[in-house]
Amino acid sequence: MTGKWITFEGIGGSGKTTQLNLLYNYLKNHSIEVILTKEPGGTVIGEKLRGILVNDLDIHLEKLSELFLFEADRHETIKKIVEPNVKAGKFVISDRGIDGSIAYQGFGRGLDIEMIHYLTSLATGTKKPDLTILIDVDPEVAQQRIASRSNVDIDKFDLEKLQFQANVRKGFLYMAEQEPKRVLILDGSVSSEELHQKIVNVIKCFSEDLDIL
Ligand code: TYD
Repeated sequence: MTGKWITFEGIGGSGKTTQLNLLYNYLKNHSIEVILTKEPGGTVIGEKLRGILVNDLDIHLEKLSELFLFEADRHETIKKIVEPNVKAGKFVISDRGIDGSIAYQGFGRGLDIEMIHYLTSLATGTKKPDLTILIDVDPEVAQQRIASRSNVDIDKFDLEKLQFQANVRKGFLYMAEQEPKRVLILDGSVSSEELHQKIVNVIKCFSEDLDIL
């Protein structure tokens, strides 16, 4: 089988992690070799970077330093997880990927989009996901979902105001507009089960190798 790199994107509270886990279990149950990873935090070094970037509320990074650290995490994930596993013919499913920096550091924080594209291309060696599933939800709905969660890690970005989340959403939609063949928008307001079925159908159409599904 040909290996594939699939990323899930969306604002916090979009339901992407739930959907990613459902897809992971589905593929495993159908004997597909699949690796789950995430950005930031998919590698040993990435876990440390995640603490700084996402969880530690006492650390206030400069915008550019924040971007550099996301790109460093990304480079580690590409080199240590994505490239070797895709080469070995496996599916690599990632909770977030390259579009996060355009959405959060670009549309959210206001850094220059072309500069982010350039740094990301250095981090990835210009490799892009084969498919990106963008789960799109209204930021107000997403914030209500986050507020009703219990026992989750603190995420600095989820604590940002509604306007920030709305800008981030625009950033993801911008990427879908720029790269419609790669980034597929799915409505995240439907039930979890309905969305899962849609994602399974997308994966089936996407990979001809998966006729066993
Ligand atoms: P994640 O663990 O997916 O959190 P959640 O599922 O709660 O949204 O991602 C951690 C945070 O990192 C998320 O709030 C968005 C942020 N992020 C960026 O700001 N830039 C990036 O390039 C990436 C990959 C993530």
